[in-house]
Amino acid sequence: MPTPVILDCDPGIDDVVAIWLAAAHPAIDLRAITTVAGNGTIDHTSRNARIACTVAGIHGVPIGQGAPGPLAQKLETADWIHGANALGGIDLPQLAMGLDDRDAHDLIRDVLTQSTQPVTIAATGPLTNIATFVERQPELCRKIERIVWMGGSTGRGNVSPYAEFNASTDPEALDIVLASAIPFTMVGLNITHQAQITREVRSRIRAIGNATATFGAELLERFCSTYDAFGEMPDGPLHDPITVALIADPAVATTQKSRLDIELHGDFTRGVTVVDLLELTSRPKNVTVAVDLDVDRYWSLIETAIRSLA
Ligand code: BDR
Ligand code: CA
Repeated sequence: MPTPVILDCDPGIDDVVAIWLAAAHPAIDLRAITTVAGNGTIDHTSRNARIACTVAGIHGVPIGQGAPGPLAQKLETADWIHGANALGGIDLPQLAMGLDDRDAHDLIRDVLTQSTQPVTIAATGPLTNIATFVERQPELCRKIERIVWMGGSTGRGNVSPYAEFNASTDPEALDIVLASAIPFTMVGLNITHQAQITREVRSRIRAIGNATATFGAELLERFCSTYDAFGEMPDGPLHDPITVALIADPAVATTQKSRLDIELHGDFTRGVTVVDLLELTSRPKNVTVAVDLDVDRYWSLIETAIRSLA
């Protein structure tokens, strides 16, 4: 039976591909998409979720708008990576669908309430919506099977030497979610940087030839040229869909149980995820951390998904 999934995201170029994989993979039953501010303002990320569904012909998945900004700090969007419209500044098609009448909180509540099975949450942005839900609906959280989140890192960062964007955009939210004891998997930069969108990958995607592939290839070209321009790496990393891939096909990555804490105070380290992979402290293990990616298997999942869409 496919796994029921809610995808909480901040599209964002790589979030768009996560939506496509979640909608297309037969092992996933995508029950809802919820949006959060992060890569762009909430207006942009909510519109971009609808764009992702429009382009790929994904109908019938409700999209609920969520938080306009982090719990305890001002929103700093990632325009420098995702462009002013959070989709690389490319021309966007006319929207073929609206937002659900319910906001993210009410949509998550309804999906959990109505589901006969526990529901998995894939989260690919700051954890603001999920933390808010955890605080408002502690009882219902028993119906969350686990949260698989793209964010953090076991090593280097991408917004400061050691802080990753999603963690650093809303550290308090991560802290609340970790305290909830809901089973949690972290997909950090340590693994997402293994998913380099090489020129060869981009041309294979473009060669699929459908509307989703053409739009996706354009997005990925923009993404990679931005990474290249900033001297980060010539081929950008496709972070977010690894969360969905892990749910659909656990063999796509190896994982390790570990201790994760989020730094809330440091002068230089606020928003840094502290992952005790080497078991240097005696703090109890509280999460699963994705470690090594089967890169070919990952791209095969992405290509198969795109091929099956519009
Ligand atoms: C994360 O930040 C965003 O820019 C991406 O969409 C991804 O979720 C990578 O640090
Ligand atoms: Ca994201």
